[in-house]
Amino acid sequence: MRALIVYESSYGNTGQVAAAIAAGVRRADPGAEVRCLPVAEAGTVEDVDLLVVGGPTHMRGMSTGLSRTLAAKAGAPEHGPGLRSWLRTLPDGGPGARAAAFDTRAEVKHAGAAADGIAARLTKHHWDLAAEPAGFLVEDTDGPLREGETGRAEAWGAALADAHRQRGLT
Ligand SMILES: Cc1cc2nc3c(=O)[nH]c(=O)nc-3n(C[C@H](O)[C@H](O)[C@H](O)COP(=O)(O)O)c2cc1C
Repeated sequence: MRALIVYESSYGNTGQVAAAIAAGVRRADPGAEVRCLPVAEAGTVEDVDLLVVGGPTHMRGMSTGLSRTLAAKAGAPEHGPGLRSWLRTLPDGGPGARAAAFDTRAEVKHAGAAADGIAARLTKHHWDLAAEPAGFLVEDTDGPLREGETGRAEAWGAALADAHRQRGLT
C-alpha cells in the first residue's frame, strides 16, 4: 500500500499528529510505503492508495489567509500555505483509493472542526472516505497536544491501514 499523509500546522501540533498517524500505518502494514509531508512539500498526488489530510481548526473551520496571519502575528513558528489551495488542485481519487481527514482543535464550546471541511473537499474530488473525520485535542492554541492524543492518532492510523488491508487493496 502507498500511503500519503499531508498536513498543515502553525505550531507543530498537527505535524505531531500526522507523524503519529504515519507511525500507526507503518505498524499495521510494515510493507507499506508511507510518506508524511507538510502541505508546502506535498505537490501533486500520484499513485496513492490511502491519502490522509489534516490541519488545525481555525475560526471553527479550515485555516484561511487571515487566520494564518493571526497565528503568525501571535508567534506561530510555521507559516506555510494552507490546505485550501492544495485541496483545490487535488486530482480525483482513482478506483480503490481511499482518504481520511483529521484536525487538531481546542476543547472549547463551538470549537468547530477543520476535518469536516477537509472531508467534504476529499469527497468532492471523488475520494471515498475510509473513516469518519477525526479530531485531536490541544490544551491551548500553541499546544501541547492533550495527553494520550498521540497514541490515539497512532491507533487511528493503524485502523485506517487495517481497514485498507481487509478490503484487499494493499
Ligand atoms: C487564528 C486561530 C483561530 C483558532 N480558532 C479555533 C477554533 O475556532 N476552534 C478551535 O477548536 N481551535 C481554534 N484555534 C486553536 C487551534 O485549533 C490550535 O492552534 C491548533 O489545533 C494547533 O495546531 P498546530 O500546532 O498544528 O497549528 C485557533 C487558533 C488560531 C491561531
